[in-house]
Amino acid sequence: MKINEIRNNFPIFKTKINGKKLVYLDSANSSQKPKTVIDRMTYFYENEYSNIGRSVHSLAVTATNKFEETRDMVQKFINAKHREEIIFTKGATESINLVANSFGEKFINEGDEIILTELEHHSNYVPWHYLRKKRKANIKFVKLDENLQINVDEVKKLISNKTKIIALTHLSNVTGGITPLKEIIDLAKTKNIPVLVDGTQGAPHLKLDMLALDCDFYAISCHKLYGPNGLGILYGKKKWLDQFEPYQGGGGMIDEVKKDNITYAETPTKFEAGTMQTAEVVAFGESIKLLEKIGLKKIKDHEDKVLNYGLEMLNKDNSINLVGTPKNKASVISFTLKGIHPHDIATILDDDGVAIRAGHHCCQILHDKIGIPATARASIGIYNDNEDIDILINAIGKCKKLFS
Ligand SMILES: Cc1ncc(COP(=O)(O)O)c(C=O)c1O
Repeated sequence: MKINEIRNNFPIFKTKINGKKLVYLDSANSSQKPKTVIDRMTYFYENEYSNIGRSVHSLAVTATNKFEETRDMVQKFINAKHREEIIFTKGATESINLVANSFGEKFINEGDEIILTELEHHSNYVPWHYLRKKRKANIKFVKLDENLQINVDEVKKLISNKTKIIALTHLSNVTGGITPLKEIIDLAKTKNIPVLVDGTQGAPHLKLDMLALDCDFYAISCHKLYGPNGLGILYGKKKWLDQFEPYQGGGGMIDEVKKDNITYAETPTKFEAGTMQTAEVVAFGESIKLLEKIGLKKIKDHEDKVLNYGLEMLNKDNSINLVGTPKNKASVISFTLKGIHPHDIATILDDDGVAIRAGHHCCQILHDKIGIPATARASIGIYNDNEDIDILINAIGKCKKLFS
């Protein structure tokens, strides 16, 4: 599939922004949706809709089967050993909260240590902070190197006999840096320490293989993976999930309810309380189909070309400061412009139809470390090309002129 064919799959690109072509460089925030996903949701609501896992009528059986088919597709997509290791959540945030709660409840006690990094999104810090307060545990932060990259040696330094879990990002939503996960997981394995990976930014750009990676938990955000909003996935090794108490209670997740006792359904149902995002899960199957049709290797190669072109163009301008220069990176470029606030950059770029994000990107620890309160961030998805970068550079030029 050629790049302009990929873009044709996304109806949003017919929309003009301020009369201009839409240059969407905000996929790290949320990706646009292919027509097949949108159509699948409509088809489901028009022809197949019912709640799942409850009624025995035909629609309910169809809806339940379609829902469970996506679980099978996800299992294959990420190469998990068991389909029960796939839990649907409302986002990567909920996936991480689930682990922090259920793992924390069972395995974290006073004085225990949790290892995070200075690169983490608030979604992979705040849930652990709650746990720290609740259980009187401690959080240690892996120091980043001068390129704002996570190094194995720094992780090693923090591991002690009190370390109960390591939770870290696969790909930074600020620097685009790719974490040397395999080395870190192999190291953790030698000490029997489980590893949770925040794969929110990794999943849209990197081929996933849970069996090869051997992490214990992997959090995915479907709305950044060309899927519907309000949907996420938690991959968790069955050996852990089976031991966990459910994270939320309600309908659909129980086995038997008595006045004085409740038993729970098996994994993964015990973690899917209440009415689930039925149409969203079914339609997410179409995102997987599209990604597989294009090919993950082809996606990565294409995005890398656009990324490298973007870095080359931005590097030519001395007034642009690139934030984080990890050697192994993908998709994300954060920068500042001398004398112009990132919010002003984003607002002015919008006049030219260029959508970027400005702010601390939910990474205040990182921004405190580098002493910059906010950055401008351009992030690349499968529909971007070098022309988008040219328009970005041109719009940055206009922005500079306006402030000179
Ligand atoms: C690295 C990272 N982790 C977690 C999240 C939260 O993901 P979700 O919106 O699916 O809860 C984000 C969203 O921006 C992110 O970039």
